[in-house]
Amino acid sequence: MFFALNTIYGTGSAVFRKGRLEKFDERGEMKFRGINHLAMVTADMEKTIRFWRDLIGLRLIYGFGEGDFRQYFFEIDGQDCLAFFEWDGAAPAQRKLHGQPRSGPFVFDHIAFGMESKEEVWALRDRLEAAGFACSDMIDHDFIHSVYSFDPNGIPIEFCYEVKGQEIRRESVINDSNPPPAALEGPEPQPGIWPEVTRPTPPEEQEVKPGDGSNFIKKY
Ligand SMILES: [Fe+2]
Repeated sequence: MFFALNTIYGTGSAVFRKGRLEKFDERGEMKFRGINHLAMVTADMEKTIRFWRDLIGLRLIYGFGEGDFRQYFFEIDGQDCLAFFEWDGAAPAQRKLHGQPRSGPFVFDHIAFGMESKEEVWALRDRLEAAGFACSDMIDHDFIHSVYSFDPNGIPIEFCYEVKGQEIRRESVINDSNPPPAALEGPEPQPGIWPEVTRPTPPEEQEVKPGDGSNFIKKY
């Protein structure tokens, strides 16, 4: 799937007043809605379905394909999906422990799935071990407790629950002996860092172009 850069990095389209968004959240910032999908790669969709649907328990909610091309979506929750392309020539990445530093080109380390309770994380750990997937111990990271493993594609995965009383979403914490200066400015987006949008895309120019999958679902 290829895009021209201006397809990805389109200009904003919201209504502006004094350089801020008129709608969206109370700060005038755009509201995000989870990670719609995290797109990973497998050479074996059958094996991937067996693991993510039948062992981990995610619903397989959407798949499209044609010939050798396919992409399938597994629902994590009401907002987030894990998606897989199937590429014939793909091979698992070289095995590396979660968070273990590497030099050279590298843009991804691991996926952490939040779970409702510690009981569910322990139950999932039991299920993985029973199926022959090695798991770490339950590890204390203060605000979360985590179990680490790998999926059949070699993707480093983590399952965790948030520890009650650790309120970093309400009161952020930067506990770093040598933080970059921007980190000391606090959690909120800083004004005046980037150029203001001078020409929001008007609705009549908000064109949507066909892409992979646009012909597969019945249009209502
Ligand atoms: Fe993590």
